[in-house]
This record gives sequence, C-alpha cells and structure tokens, in this order.
Amino acid sequence: MFRLANDASPAPMAGPLRDPQGRTLDYLRLAVTDRCNLRCRYCMPSEGIKLVARQDVLSLEEMQRLGAVFAGLGVRKFRITGGEPLLRKGVVDLIAGLRRLPTTPDVLLTTNGLLLDANLSALEAAGVQRINLSLDSLDPENWLRITRRGGHDKVLRAMDRILEMGMGLKVNMVVLPGRNEHEIPDFVGLTKDRKLSVRFIEPMPFDGAGLPLKAISGAEILALIQPSYELEALENPEGAVDKLYAVAGHQGNIGVIEGHSRTFCASCRRLRIDARGGFRTCLYGKSQVNLRAMLRDGCSDKDLVVAVRSAVGRRLEDGIAAEKDSRLGGLESMASIGG
Ligand code: 5AD
Ligand code: SF4
Repeated sequence: MFRLANDASPAPMAGPLRDPQGRTLDYLRLAVTDRCNLRCRYCMPSEGIKLVARQDVLSLEEMQRLGAVFAGLGVRKFRITGGEPLLRKGVVDLIAGLRRLPTTPDVLLTTNGLLLDANLSALEAAGVQRINLSLDSLDPENWLRITRRGGHDKVLRAMDRILEMGMGLKVNMVVLPGRNEHEIPDFVGLTKDRKLSVRFIEPMPFDGAGLPLKAISGAEILALIQPSYELEALENPEGAVDKLYAVAGHQGNIGVIEGHSRTFCASCRRLRIDARGGFRTCLYGKSQVNLRAMLRDGCSDKDLVVAVRSAVGRRLEDGIAAEKDSRLGGLESMASIGG
C-alpha cells in the first residue's frame, strides 16, 4: 500500500501548485527512460548504471494519465527527457497525447541527438516546437572521450536539420574542467551565423558513481569567454535557470546555467518525475512520492492530486537544503533522475 504522507502540510488544496516559499510550479520534467546510447562521464560510469527494471518504468498510458493530472494542477510546460528519450518506443505518441490535453501545454524535448534524424519530422508533427540538444564537444575525438561512444557526426547533422526545419534549438554543453573548457570559445562561435542558444552548464554531482566533482562556476565560465567576445546581459524570462547574454554581432545567444552553484532556486518552477515514477520537487532532493506504486494500487486522480500537493507543501527552500535532506552523495545518475 502507498502512504499519503503528511496530510497536515500547508499546501493549498486548490489553485496552482505553490510551495511554502510562494513559488508557482508549472513546469514538469518527465524522464521516460533511464536507458541511454551514450556513457557521458559526468552522468554514468563506463559500464553504465544499474537500470530500472522494465516493469518499474511507467507505461506510456500511466505517463499520459499523470500528464493530465499535472496539467489540471496548472502545469503548462512538459519536458520529455531521460536517459535518452528517443530510445523509448512510443515517445512521439506520448508527446502528441500531452499536446492534445485541453490546456495544450508546451511539450519540449531534451536529447543527445543520435536518433533525431529518424524522428525529427514526427516530433514536429506531434507539436514539439523546440529541442535541447546535448553536445559537449565539437571535436569528434574529444566527444568520443567524453561520451565513450561513436556518432558525433549524427549529432552535428541533427543540429543543422533542426535549424533547417525552423525549430527552436538550445545546445547544452556541460563544461568539464580539463576536458572541454578549451572549446568554450568555439561553442560561442556556433552562435555567429546560427539562430540558436548555447548554454554552458556547471557540472553537477550526479555521475552515478559518487566520484569527486571537478567543479567550475558560471563566473569562471564567463571569464573564459569575455577575452574573445563582447557580451551583453539579456533580460531573463521568469523562472528561467539560465543567465542569458547577447554576443555582439551574433545571431544566436549564450547562457550560463549555474546548476551546481544553485543561484536560481528562488525562482525555480520545476518538478520532476524520475524514471521509476518517483515525484521529485528538487533535482537535488529525493523522490517524495512513488507515483508508480500509487497508480498500480488503483488510486484515483484525487489521491494523486492530494499526494502531489502534499509533496509540494514540503518543498524545501533550495537545492542546498534538499541535498542535505537527501544524503545520496552523488550516487544517483542524471539518467534516472531526468536530465
Ligand atoms: N551535470 C550537469 N549536467 C548534466 N547532464 C547530465 N548529467 C549532468 C551532470 N552531472 C545534462 C546533459 C544534458 C541534460 C540532459 O543534462 O548533458 O544536457
Ligand atoms: Fe546519456 Fe545524457 Fe547521460 Fe550522456 S548525459 S549518458 S546522453 S543521459
């Protein structure tokens, strides 16, 4: 049996999801699989991670039902992630199904790009307007060292095709000291003639092995860019986690995501469902509710709403507090939490 934890929570039982700090939560990241066709060093060890048993991954029907419940709770934006989401059969149908909800939420995709060629047209038809592409090196050999797998040419081709199709594109580069920080100026160079946004991400302690983190801060990343490029800070949309900058003379722009420094927690609007169907109110925190167990125990939508509101009512003030509370010490992989 599942437990409806802590019914005495201060969460409001109607209206949008709001946490004790008054932040509205209207963005849900859904990890549709923990499988991946790459082995990025900062995400998992070379032998991979201990995978979630097939039967413990949510079915597409279960995800669609949760999507409807969360849309009813005011979620306006879904991000489909993983692992590599395009490894999950039927993911395009799920995206189309979420788009068809009465509130027509935005549905976005984060992918490593290896399987994009075969899927791009279907994704566009399903209503994906924008893609986040993970790309940590422009040099095929360095990319191979970081991801431990082949296919760099496919990712570069995917980048061009996304732009040709007129879809929005963000390129996410995790900055790894000693491995790819020398490529940062080349990544800024990508924005010269391309209308895309390159986001430089601080590495975070989710490598699935608990290795010591080689950290680099957003300020250090900017310091590597400024000698070569003139930057101008841009206004950020509410709830955005990136600090955006225009680059003088460039069509695209750049951003820095201080995911390890956690400078944006005060305006964070994100929720997550991990690859096991765990509901997480912070990337750094533990799963708060086992939604899979609830669904399979035959719960009602009302039960789900009560459990979600209760977890939101217990949301801690930031990722530092959530990390202290979780004590998992980097043993989790981003592939199972949902990147
Ligand atoms: N630190 C920072 N970013 C990470 N990602 C995966 N693991 C980490 C980590 N440990 C990023 C991926 C991708 C997105 C899914 O999350 O590179 O851009
Ligand atoms: Fe796969 Fe993304 Fe993890 Fe790389 S970072 S191994 S692409 S899930």
